[in-house]
Amino acid sequence: MLDRIKKLRTEVDNYQVDSIDDLEIFRIRFLGKKGFIVNLFSDFKKVSPEQKREYGKLINDLKNSAIEKISHLKSVLDEKNDFVSNIDLSLPGDPLPVGSRHPISIVRNNIIDIFTRLGFSISEGPEIEDDDHVFSKLNFPPDHPARDMQDTFFIEKGHSESAKNHDILLRTHTSSVQVRDMENSKPPIRTISPGRVFRNEAISARAHCIFHQVEGLYIDTNVSFADLKQTLLYFAREMFGEDISTRLRPSYFPFTEPSAEMDVSCLICGGKGCNVCKHNGWVEILGCGMVDPNVLENCNINSKKYTGFAFGMGVERIAQLKYKVNDLRLYFENDVRFLSQFRSSI
Ligand code: DAH
Repeated sequence: MLDRIKKLRTEVDNYQVDSIDDLEIFRIRFLGKKGFIVNLFSDFKKVSPEQKREYGKLINDLKNSAIEKISHLKSVLDEKNDFVSNIDLSLPGDPLPVGSRHPISIVRNNIIDIFTRLGFSISEGPEIEDDDHVFSKLNFPPDHPARDMQDTFFIEKGHSESAKNHDILLRTHTSSVQVRDMENSKPPIRTISPGRVFRNEAISARAHCIFHQVEGLYIDTNVSFADLKQTLLYFAREMFGEDISTRLRPSYFPFTEPSAEMDVSCLICGGKGCNVCKHNGWVEILGCGMVDPNVLENCNINSKKYTGFAFGMGVERIAQLKYKVNDLRLYFENDVRFLSQFRSSI
């Protein structure tokens, strides 16, 4: 009998169950009218008086532990059932936050989209450049003051005057990609080069040491200033809308002759005058001109046969006008409250 009690006790202690029905079967086996416990109590009558105390206690303990175990397992199963039946499977899931493109990427993609529709291809060049591609081949003579128009971050200076062309620096403009395009391909060339540029400037609302440009280059026979003007007018209308006004002002760049800068009517104040347009109603968005014959020759292109135009625009400047956000620093701080306001299909 002792063995039977021990075996039943182990069975109770180890019992696990998944369903209420199985638990009921277990309960009947142990606590039912013909169950183990009732049987043990009837056999208990035959136990000798000396053993009654010990056996009685063991049977009572077994009975109590079976009752406790069953009630514990029942509450676990009830809780599980409640949980499952309370889930509303028709509820929508938790929303996943969708990211958005950076405003500078959106504007850059817009620019790319407009020019690729005109048949321009896309080319890229290195951000770490040499003097040759950033200055010399673009007709900046050594020590010419035009080099100071752009404050350059130098990485490695040439050791002598003659080694000047081998200065290594961060490109100050994407015009360096023009040189690489002309060196590496034959006309006709019709390409735009988007990319990052670097200038040693103090960071403020109006200036940053890193910004983005898109360079444009078109070289073929008989390319004229009229082609340049029309291309840029088309660009401005596609970018800012049909009502935009543009004007070209004569300017100077070493690599173009003649050179010009293009202004658009200020979209922020509608031409009335504000701090973005410096109160004159116009905002400069790009430099441009006819590629200087010296530049063509520096890049092994016959300047008697070919002519070309080039332009370079600032992506941040265009974004400022498009989104009416004047402080350049906001574009670089990566504050999601700012960035998540811009949506685009491109
Ligand atoms: N590289 C000039 C700058 O960063 C912009 C520019 C002006 C590019 C005239 C051109 C150009 O291609 O023809 O200020």
